[in-house]
Amino acid sequence: MKQEQQWSSKIGFILAAAGSAIGLGAIWKFPYVMATSGGGAFFLIFLLFTIFIGLPLLLAELIIGRSTGKDAIRAYKTIAPTGYWHLLGYLGTATSFIIFSFYSVIGGWILLYFGRSLTGSLLHHNLVFSDLFKEITANPLAVTSAQLLFILITIYVVAKGVSTGIEKASQFMMPALFILFLVLVVRSLTLEGASEGVRYFLMPDFNKLTKDAVIYAMGQSFFCLSIGVSVMVTYSSYLDKRETLTKSSISIVSLNLLTTILAGFAIFPAVFSFGMEPTAGPGLLFVVLPSIFEQMAFGSVFLVIFMALFLFATLSSAFSLLEIIVAVIVKGDASKRKKYSWIVGFCVFLVGIPCSLSFGPMSDMTLFGKTFFDLADYLASYILLPIGVFLISIFVGYRFPRARLVEELCKESAWWRKGTVYYVMLLRYIIPIVVIIVFLNIFGVL
Ligand code: PFF
Ligand code: NA
Repeated sequence: MKQEQQWSSKIGFILAAAGSAIGLGAIWKFPYVMATSGGGAFFLIFLLFTIFIGLPLLLAELIIGRSTGKDAIRAYKTIAPTGYWHLLGYLGTATSFIIFSFYSVIGGWILLYFGRSLTGSLLHHNLVFSDLFKEITANPLAVTSAQLLFILITIYVVAKGVSTGIEKASQFMMPALFILFLVLVVRSLTLEGASEGVRYFLMPDFNKLTKDAVIYAMGQSFFCLSIGVSVMVTYSSYLDKRETLTKSSISIVSLNLLTTILAGFAIFPAVFSFGMEPTAGPGLLFVVLPSIFEQMAFGSVFLVIFMALFLFATLSSAFSLLEIIVAVIVKGDASKRKKYSWIVGFCVFLVGIPCSLSFGPMSDMTLFGKTFFDLADYLASYILLPIGVFLISIFVGYRFPRARLVEELCKESAWWRKGTVYYVMLLRYIIPIVVIIVFLNIFGVL
């Protein structure tokens, strides 16, 4: 058996993990929801969830992965040989599969838009952008083949291996993503009337902070950090025993928060400067932004930059979604990686087709009033993810041997000898209770 690779450097691991986190959540959904749900007030709530639930849970996943060095299913089995805890690994794998099946749809759209922005055909046509968006996303052949292409790129990278595939790609894509973002933020903030957009994005408005917004902030803080799925367990299982986990988790969370802010600063000043309507729904990025770039000097260049950035963000998240499934199947045998990357990727594509067609031929086929796409998104983001977070919190809080936890954490700072008590309290009581409260709210029980 050929052993799986490890990350070749700590920074490589952080970029890959931050790559998993930073994605559609931070740059597609978040800025829009934040702006319409209370601006700075919403961000505050999001920050609280991220710091008191997201960060500790991310750390918990890193501890599980690194201390066992195993894939998601075997990691739980190693720590708890008896009982049913390893089902958590199956839950994560299934959740990942579902997320990948709808995530790749958007990935496909981005590829389509990226291609069009390169050839210039995105800006030069005689349709309104909203119609163009509808036309593109409703075309069954275009969307499914673009989705397939997106999945194929993901397979290609994952099949290459952990350090030679995922790490190498992330080491190029993530710094590029930040540089491209900075270019856009500078461009956007220097436009005339930019300050109005900044105000719209940041101005705290506690009246808009509804119950739904709070629920959303929680779901979003989990989705944005890729926690509750055990992809972080998988990624940290390839980490050297000496690396420090607390610092890594803080770096990953900080990079993710930074991106969220950058996204807001790139989008809203431009939106206001060109007198656009920011409340354009999720189509914001595919409809509003192209029409802004159309009016901007060198707009076609900025549009390419924007789409490339988007592509990097979605791809780096897709790697982790495929990796957890492949890791669970190959069980540390690197010689099987290639074959199963292809097989799993193709299965995701088959399941993802109905999600792709949800905006065209299958838009009328609904279950509980939701299309396949919405259903997959809802099931994963609002049900499976919170359940995963809840159980992982319980698992590390109660089942993970305390001595081992202290040992793992004390590697970096002796503070943990005392501090672990608080950490465990957070995992045992605070996180599960908050998740339950929000969960009951989703189903209207409270
Ligand atoms: N964190 C990614 C995003 O915000 O787009 C999505 C994601 C990736 C969620 C991987 C969960 C996951 F396991
Ligand atoms: Na990403």
